[in-house]
Amino acid sequence: MAFELPPLPYPADALEPVYSANTISFHYGKHHKAYVDNLNKLVAGTELESKSLEELIMLSAADATKVGIFNNSAQIWNHTFFWNCMKPGGGGKPTGALAKAIDAAFGGYDKFVEQFKASAVGRFGSGWGWLVLDDGELKVVSTSNADTPMTKGQKALLTVDVWEHAYYLDYQNRRPDFVQAFLDKLVNWGFVAANL
Ligand SMILES: [Fe+2]
Repeated sequence: MAFELPPLPYPADALEPVYSANTISFHYGKHHKAYVDNLNKLVAGTELESKSLEELIMLSAADATKVGIFNNSAQIWNHTFFWNCMKPGGGGKPTGALAKAIDAAFGGYDKFVEQFKASAVGRFGSGWGWLVLDDGELKVVSTSNADTPMTKGQKALLTVDVWEHAYYLDYQNRRPDFVQAFLDKLVNWGFVAANL
């Protein structure tokens, strides 16, 4: 069965003006869709056709001959996760058990923000900024290109896409402004808490 582009969890203009419908139309409608189309072409007619997305990510991560499958399958997973990490009117401080866990791990929300921004903004070239659960511990990490925490045994809780295609139409080269806006106005902390 072919992979499908999952529906967005909100209308394309729902994150305006922080994240424009124009950006979504390219980022979701073109980039995310292209990863789905590419993966379907790569696995069509092979024994990989019946694998789940997660299975494809894990088996191709360990096989240098399957770079194309890794890049496209991991990018599909990362993008679907990223869309769910945002909501209209999101952002600001989390509450409840998640807030307590962040306080305990980082010494407060502000310290977490400092680390998350430094990691995501400092990622050279294309990649992703993450909050992950690593062996029971909350950590801020970043990954390069399509790479994704599950290949390192980490559980993803939150991500921000820092490929230029994620922010250039709205923020041009100002990646720090995009990551700040993401934290202040977009993060769906309910989704992050559910992952935890
Ligand atoms: Fe992206």
